[in-house]
Amino acid sequence: MARIIGGIGSSHVPTIGVAYDKGKQQQPAWAPLFNGYKAAAAWLAEKKPDVMIVFYNDHLNAFFYDLYPTFALGVAPSYEVADEGAGKRPLPPVPGHPALARHLAEQLVNDEFDISVFQDRPLDHGVFSPLPLLWPHNPGWPGAIIPIEVNVVQYPLPTPMRCFRLGQAVRRAIEAFPEDLTVAVVGTGGLSHQVHGERSGFNDTDWDMRFIELIEHDPEELARLRHVDYIRRGGAESVEQIMWLAMRGALSNDITKIHQNYYLATTTAMTVLVLEDNAPAKRAGTAGNVQLEGVENIDGTYAFDIPTAVSRIGLNRFFWNMRLPEARERFRADETTACRDAGLTEEETTLVRDRDWIGLIRHGANFFVLEKFARLLGVTNLEVYASMRGESFDAFMATRRVPDAR
Ligand code: FE2
Repeated sequence: MARIIGGIGSSHVPTIGVAYDKGKQQQPAWAPLFNGYKAAAAWLAEKKPDVMIVFYNDHLNAFFYDLYPTFALGVAPSYEVADEGAGKRPLPPVPGHPALARHLAEQLVNDEFDISVFQDRPLDHGVFSPLPLLWPHNPGWPGAIIPIEVNVVQYPLPTPMRCFRLGQAVRRAIEAFPEDLTVAVVGTGGLSHQVHGERSGFNDTDWDMRFIELIEHDPEELARLRHVDYIRRGGAESVEQIMWLAMRGALSNDITKIHQNYYLATTTAMTVLVLEDNAPAKRAGTAGNVQLEGVENIDGTYAFDIPTAVSRIGLNRFFWNMRLPEARERFRADETTACRDAGLTEEETTLVRDRDWIGLIRHGANFFVLEKFARLLGVTNLEVYASMRGESFDAFMATRRVPDAR
């Protein structure tokens, strides 16, 4: 069964990554920061969590205002480092944990915590500025991460209490996971800082210390604050501290503070806090999506779920791109090349070549992208339905109430 071994609160700052990559760890200006992470790294090295769940925010690197999710859970097998404008940092991709991520999505949604899911999006300094300070990465990272993105860049943000409740829901989900896994939960962001406007450079160390004390002993008091309280006390961007509340919500009340470091050099109060969770593991619950129990007994039906979306993203994107005139043109010009350039497997290319509609559905294509392929071919939905049923078009239409409605 899965168990949460503790939580880490950490600031995330792009300049940490720059200093790290330039090897400034022991320079006097940076040593108090980097040395302050050593105890956290040692704790992780000793506890060896299989997975880190990281509540973080994206800084308009993977998501934009055309579709900005309030909460988004990563379900991918791995994550690249985002290019934030200066090229990608020299860090290997970090593995994800699709099985636990799928479980989290199912449990959270069935716990009435409707969360978006994402894959194929890079992670920015919200994850990767503290991660190399916590985990070694040569040649690879020692475990997997599950990123949970939180909107702190476009109001309305999720309330501090909602973030705390999300953490509690994540704990319930992890405790229900049947596999033996150890999980550390991380919340990144803050502490006091403001990076825009005439108030840029605002800090308040007294408030930072009070926040650290409350996150350990009375997180619900912090959860009852409003965004404006965080903005007033710690600067506009300190509202990121709501991600620490998500981390704290995932911990029990039986915790021990293992380590704390605070370093304020220029504009962001940089902190790392380690809280070990002493609560014993609970008996695992039942995994799976209760909303779909028994669906496998409904003939001719293929519920499109996260594992299908992850394993068949290439094929589905191939059809999805047929919304674009240039993609349609490429396919018309040379089908085989278009399939190859899209990275389709031999099996998928054959299914496409044969217009094998039911084969494509069984393989994991979603009907709503297949429609676009059908439009390209001049095939109607009614003709696709007939094909999937294994009937001639006329035979299928004869089963309709108005067979002439074609
Ligand atoms: Fe940030």
